[in-house]
Amino acid sequence: MRVLSGIQPSGRLHIGNYFGAMRQHLRMQAEHECFYFIADYHALTSNPAPQAVAEYTLAVAMDYLALGLDIEKTVFWRQSDMPEVTELTWLLSCVTPMGLLQKCVSYKDKVAQGLSPNHGLFAYPVLQAADILIFQSDLVPVGADQKQHIEVTRDIALRFNNTYGGEVFKIPADHIIESVAVVPGIDGRKMSKSYGNTIEIFEPEKSVRSKIMKIVTDSTPVEAPKNPDTCNVFALLKLFATPEELAQWDQRYRAGGMGYGEAKKRLAELVIEHFKPYRQKRAELENNPGAVDAMLKKGAERARAVAAPTLLAARQAVGLGARR
Ligand code: ADP
Ligand code: TRP
Repeated sequence: MRVLSGIQPSGRLHIGNYFGAMRQHLRMQAEHECFYFIADYHALTSNPAPQAVAEYTLAVAMDYLALGLDIEKTVFWRQSDMPEVTELTWLLSCVTPMGLLQKCVSYKDKVAQGLSPNHGLFAYPVLQAADILIFQSDLVPVGADQKQHIEVTRDIALRFNNTYGGEVFKIPADHIIESVAVVPGIDGRKMSKSYGNTIEIFEPEKSVRSKIMKIVTDSTPVEAPKNPDTCNVFALLKLFATPEELAQWDQRYRAGGMGYGEAKKRLAELVIEHFKPYRQKRAELENNPGAVDAMLKKGAERARAVAAPTLLAARQAVGLGARR
């Protein structure tokens, strides 16, 4: 099956991104033909500082590569190195009803959070549809928040196929990532780059420890029994501890006599251990941004070759024909 997914370079990747998306992306490489890209065109919709776009794009690439993205197997590139996708966006825009985009909740949410209601933000799902359709993707692994965008993609693909006859685009299925419940941040809200509450995958060990010690907990005294099900520290332990160890923590919480500080210290050790094997590779990549850039460029060449026939078919379908 052909699998496609994108991730925005809107900040440093954190353990919420890892358990909520990256880990599944990396695992799918074993069985599928995977296409993964860094969605820098999409990131522009929130008007980031220009230096941030380039910096975070490379950092996201380094994180994926360090954690095991295999560029021999998987096609991995930077969205903006493939301008075909913006051309297809236009062709798709012309069959996309306004009402379809007006229904999208992510636009409304982002504007409610204070982002500028620009046209790019509104048209974001059409660009996403072009990303997906240009590769004739079968499966699009995404978090639950992106499900509506996949439905919009299917709708646009059907409209295009019906309008122009024939089967220019394959209708993709989504593949909602079997979600580890939402990973909480150190303040107890969803861990998110936009809340400043993240633990980054590759942040320095000292800083991992100090952030974990700051995780918000309730004020149950040490002696008293505690409820693991409502505890942010326990929610994170669930991701990193073995089932046996987790069962022990569960008991200790419920028995009382354990302070949150103790659980936090163990959590910090587990988090650091978990990503340790990848740190050296990450550091090597960090020291060689030129090589990472070159890998992305090569990936873009492969991606463009795969996308070219679909773009040509779409151009022909609407009457533009091949480019002269
Ligand atoms: P952020 O909220 O940090 O900006 P994105 O919206 O860019 O993260 O999400 C990228 C991917 O990571 C998405 O597939 C999303 O579902 C997943 N993800 C982000 N935050 C979390 C979280 N706290 N828990 C689980 N998955 C998450
Ligand atoms: N919108 C996705 C997100 O914010 C990123 C993305 C862009 C994407 N294009 C895509 C995901 C195509 C899957 C397929 O997480």
